[in-house]
Amino acid sequence: MKQLKGRDLLGIADLSPAEIKGLLDIARQLKSGELTCTANKVLGLLFYKASTRTRVSFSVAMYQLGGQVIDLNPSVTQVGRGEPIQDTARVLDRYLDILAIRTFQQEDVRLFAEYAGIPVINALTDLEHPCQILADLLTIEECFGSLEGKTVAYVGDGNNVANSLLLACSLMGINVHIAAPTDYQPNNSFVKKAKELANHGAEIVITEDAIAAVKEAQVVYTDVWASMGQEDLASTRIPIFQPYQVNEKLLSYADSRAIVLHCLPAHRGEEITNEVIEGKQSRVWDQAENRMHAQKALLAVLLGCLE
Ligand code: CP
Ligand code: NVA
Repeated sequence: MKQLKGRDLLGIADLSPAEIKGLLDIARQLKSGELTCTANKVLGLLFYKASTRTRVSFSVAMYQLGGQVIDLNPSVTQVGRGEPIQDTARVLDRYLDILAIRTFQQEDVRLFAEYAGIPVINALTDLEHPCQILADLLTIEECFGSLEGKTVAYVGDGNNVANSLLLACSLMGINVHIAAPTDYQPNNSFVKKAKELANHGAEIVITEDAIAAVKEAQVVYTDVWASMGQEDLASTRIPIFQPYQVNEKLLSYADSRAIVLHCLPAHRGEEITNEVIEGKQSRVWDQAENRMHAQKALLAVLLGCLE
């Protein structure tokens, strides 16, 4: 994984299938204790949106590697008062070893990475959530022993999580079925890219039909119907998305061994029912834990601490 040292992770397709596989192997070994790693380095967190899992899992991962974390909350740093990203990036580059940024525009993350030489990690934008997907793949691999040939059905809003999941599945030879209302399907460029990148005959299906998407799937995945920044639209979206609720009836169409994933936070009674998220097929707590293991692996390889 030497080739990942010093690189950025701006979108999931910045990683090749072999690099994703390598990261998952390292994450699994870090989780089991087979592998240990020390990174006496400093991670900055620049988050313009709320976060529980990403913020805490990155922080704990860095502490467990022996490093330090600085919370660069935009409300108390100059970037929140309009200091240009290019200037903030060039200055933080001189202090930090690595930075995770959560913001709205993907372009801002790209700009930050252009102006900072240190590795820059996309910790969620409106377009992508690559760190989430590394943890999701780790969870699927743990549950089924392998990724290739499995079918993941994502039901709901074609948002940042859906975009990254679509690309990651296609790269890893996982069939991916996305069911979303017509006007809420994943970004077209992601669908096109997923079809181009599809490995090992991964099947890409984008549909409005939730039942068709879920049929025979080993993984049923959902996320909120209104993402951060879209809260004002939440009430108008509820009736549109109702047919896409992950409930026991919809789940009954999936493979009988299917697991249920949700990146969290969840809105019970909207995109997922209480019965399903608390039910025996739910793996959401393992999935949330895996954020820490996957990101620890990511920090270790980007910082070059495993050489
Ligand atoms: N899944 C996820 O990214 O959660 P947070 O918004 O709490 O970080
Ligand atoms: N799609 C959600 C994911 C939260 C982790 C959002 O962007 O708000």
